[in-house]
Amino acid sequence: MSILKLIQMTDLHLGPTADYQCRGFNTLDSFKAVLAAFESNSNGEEILVLTGDLASDAQPGAYQQLNKILIQNKKRAIWLPGNHDRLSLMQEYLSDYPYLPVYEHEHWAVLMIDSSVPGQAGGKISNQQFTQLEEQLEQLKDKYLLVAMHHSPVSLNSQWLDEHRISNHQKLHSLLVANGNVKAVITGHIHQQHETDWQGIKVYSTPSTCFQFAENSDQFALTDKKPAYRWLDLQPDGHIETGINRVDYPSK
Ligand SMILES: [Fe+2]
Repeated sequence: MSILKLIQMTDLHLGPTADYQCRGFNTLDSFKAVLAAFESNSNGEEILVLTGDLASDAQPGAYQQLNKILIQNKKRAIWLPGNHDRLSLMQEYLSDYPYLPVYEHEHWAVLMIDSSVPGQAGGKISNQQFTQLEEQLEQLKDKYLLVAMHHSPVSLNSQWLDEHRISNHQKLHSLLVANGNVKAVITGHIHQQHETDWQGIKVYSTPSTCFQFAENSDQFALTDKKPAYRWLDLQPDGHIETGINRVDYPSK
């Protein structure tokens, strides 16, 4: 009876070159620091789940650098796009990591949903994604399910981020909760740790691998909290154990 071990890293905001900086962070260096911290705790079984904003502005060079690092580190990884990404460019330049809408394991499946809307910061599930999701839920009735997406479906007590909440979250909730096997949703986008119960479905959001947004702030604001990754152990009985590990970057 094997555990599916996942490592979520999100909102890398990589740029086209190694010296690129975003909001005072060399985002490549901070991502590498997060990756190294995970490596030091790894037993080699984990799958990386990258939940969007992998580039800061959909630069091909960002995806090329990410592809190279993942290959060099012999990582297995699945990914989905955020509002700062473009799916077609990710598919072209993450050349060793094809987009997988579903990752299946012995007892579990991970559904990789695209919640991005071209030209918008906020999230929405398209009709095409809903159709695909309905088919997946029907086909995966014998699995426990984890749903991954970039945007949060819940409110956070933060006006500017709540404006980015998945706009058709009620329709999404109805579909997921009716299935009965959806145990949790994981998201990025909010650059902070947040964990809540979405009327029967756990929602786990994860800090960025670079800069962090202030919690409970109605306007955009940053904090000096450290980058992090989330570990998830998906147990054979449908139970999830999870937590985040902060990384000392920039180091003191
Ligand atoms: Fe982001």
